[in-house]
Amino acid sequence: MSLLAFLTALDTLAAEASQSLSAVSDVEKLEELRVRFIGAKNGQLKSIQKMMGSLQADERPSAGKRFNEVRDAVQSAIDAAAERLGSESQPSRVNGPMVDPTLPGLRPRLGHLHPITQTIEHLKEIMGRLGFTTTEGPEIEDTWHNFVALNIPEDHPARDPLDNFYLTTAGKTAIDPAAPGGMLLRSQTSTVQIRVMEQSKPPLRIISLGRVYRPDAADATHFPMFHQMEGLWVDRHVTMAQLKSVLRMFATSYLGSDVHIRFRPSFFPFTEPSVEVDYFWNDNWVEFGGAGMVDPNVLSAVGYDPEEYSGFAFGLGVERLCMRRFAITDIRDLFRSDVRFLRQF
Ligand code: DAH
Repeated sequence: MSLLAFLTALDTLAAEASQSLSAVSDVEKLEELRVRFIGAKNGQLKSIQKMMGSLQADERPSAGKRFNEVRDAVQSAIDAAAERLGSESQPSRVNGPMVDPTLPGLRPRLGHLHPITQTIEHLKEIMGRLGFTTTEGPEIEDTWHNFVALNIPEDHPARDPLDNFYLTTAGKTAIDPAAPGGMLLRSQTSTVQIRVMEQSKPPLRIISLGRVYRPDAADATHFPMFHQMEGLWVDRHVTMAQLKSVLRMFATSYLGSDVHIRFRPSFFPFTEPSVEVDYFWNDNWVEFGGAGMVDPNVLSAVGYDPEEYSGFAFGLGVERLCMRRFAITDIRDLFRSDVRFLRQF
């Protein structure tokens, strides 16, 4: 074959390609043209390239140069057409990575309430069925509600600064005897008994659930912040038998119908008589709170007549109940905010 014939074939192809690629109007047609001009097997450029073998050796460099120019021009025209048609020259790859609709989707992970909050809701629900309504009190308290009205005298060890988070208010702390308005983080929810009785007349039947604070070193069973459920029932002729019935009904509802409870004699300044309450579990008696008949001094402090009214009160640790139910063994795990732990409950 002559060099002239070779170059003519190239020029014809170049003209034809340039014309049809600038006019092409859809992606499928473009793909057809791509195969026709530069297809790896039977493309026209391929056939022309094969003809190069029959040229004279000294004709080949200039023939090769021209061939490369035409090949690049055709490729650019294809690219330009693809861009104009908003696609790549491969019609199967339309803009961006392909979506595989058969892959499993991403399941959204829903959060849930903290186990302590779940326990609090559960306790409210059980006590609600027994006729107790829920009230709240402040976590920052004055010494009147945390101690004085609860019959806890000035020199009582419960007031020890080492056992309480006293706050500095106007340069004075609550342990300063000259500062009756001193404040502290409440060390017990019994404060709410006083607040409720100050605000309403008997009869009343309330519970209050919330945080309390004591400067204990954290270990598996202690934490400087924890939760209590306080209960109070005041009316005419309220007796200790009713206290025991309510606590037993509560324990069997929450812990299981086979649970037994017992009272052990104890002392709290705000109840007389006072008891510790235990439930029986795993061959052991486990303490879950304190209780008793509201001390007449407490009733008097809020203006109730102790001759006319009597009442019972109890205070239970929420963490203990929560940990028993969810089989949690270290109280610190509850407050580490590690979702890998909390997610389990
Ligand atoms: N406030 C007590 C405490 O934190 C618990 C308690 C005991 C509450 C006896 C009561 C009660 O209402 O009657 O240790």
